Amino acid sequence: MSELKNDRFLRALMREPVDATPVWMMRQAGRYLPEYRASRAKAGSFMDLCMNPEMACEVTLQPLERYPLDAAILFSDILTIPDAMGLGLYFETGEGPRFKKTVTTAADVDALPIVNTLKDLPYVPDAVRTIRRELNGRVPLIGFSGSPWTLATYMVEGGSSKDFRKAKAMAYNEPELMKMLLDKLAISVTEYLNEQIKAGAQAVQIFDSWGGALAHDAYLEFSLAPMQKIVNGLIREHDGRKVPVIMFTKGGGQWLEPMAETGVDALGLDWTTPISGARSRVGHKVALQGNMDPSILYAKPDRIRAEVANILSDFGAGSGHVFNLGHGITPEVKPENAGAFIECVHELSRQYHLQD
Ligand code: CP3
Repeated sequence: MSELKNDRFLRALMREPVDATPVWMMRQAGRYLPEYRASRAKAGSFMDLCMNPEMACEVTLQPLERYPLDAAILFSDILTIPDAMGLGLYFETGEGPRFKKTVTTAADVDALPIVNTLKDLPYVPDAVRTIRRELNGRVPLIGFSGSPWTLATYMVEGGSSKDFRKAKAMAYNEPELMKMLLDKLAISVTEYLNEQIKAGAQAVQIFDSWGGALAHDAYLEFSLAPMQKIVNGLIREHDGRKVPVIMFTKGGGQWLEPMAETGVDALGLDWTTPISGARSRVGHKVALQGNMDPSILYAKPDRIRAEVANILSDFGAGSGHVFNLGHGITPEVKPENAGAFIECVHELSRQYHLQD
């Protein structure tokens, strides 16, 4: 495998010295880019993009052609796993993801297979290998998966939800059934992430988008515990290098201490948690990733710059920070605003790394 020309992202995740704070954006390959919309139209649909390794590679690289990003992220979706379990994922325009089948009874959970990535999702490791070849060492490639709880919400609800009524009812009424489902997902996700690592993913992120909807004890039981099982089973070193693990629970700022205890290398933060407080709570254990409100990208470049300056100074001097948005970039953002954001992270952060 080729040498990395820019390893700031991996170094910051390991809290090693860097020359400037690395930056990438969740959903950096997406609808705010006209070239992404053109590729999606050419492929036919979003899932056609995901399932064709050459097309997935093309869109993964699009934001890197435009901006000096410090990491690439595999173009795929967290819902490939429930799709591979036979639920039949489809996207209704304007309505987000839907499943043909939902999981409601013990018989439904029993019938779910454990995912075998090489057999059921071969296009994912294929895309990882294709992207690594085309990146040619420019920046590291991030692999990812959804957390068991987040995947379970989509499987039980049959799609997106505002209140997670059915998933929470299952967790509270039939905790053993929910745990069987979460266990099958944890085993599948572990294997899926390990196959991404073996194919060349140089860091992995677990997206726990809906853990923050749970009550305190329920988060520990239904979201964090299955993520802990995944962390315990991941390949942590590959090809002579550490493979850092990032755990991101949106709305999870109150649980940083137990999250850091799981043994991950970094925690993702959304914009509701001050990064200085997070650093003093868990910064001796893990790196931090985040946490600008993605809506700042609707503002003018000088307002974006002021917000970046704020977050950098709030984190303070030294390594252990990967700049990111606190959630995915939205389709309405102007591409030039994303560019202004990325450039000023590099420009304004150098002063915080002089002694590194
Ligand atoms: O970050 C990246 O650039 C990598 C690609 C990526 C996508 N989805 C592409 C995508 C990643 C990391 C995801 C993760 C994902 N998918 C999450 C976790 C992160 C989060 O946002 O909380 C979730 C919950 C999903 C499920 C999902 N996929 C939803 C709810 C939607 C619809 C969203 C919408 O705004 O319509 C998707 C579709 C999806 N996944 C798109 C992209 C670029 C848009 C599809 C399109 O082109 O129409």
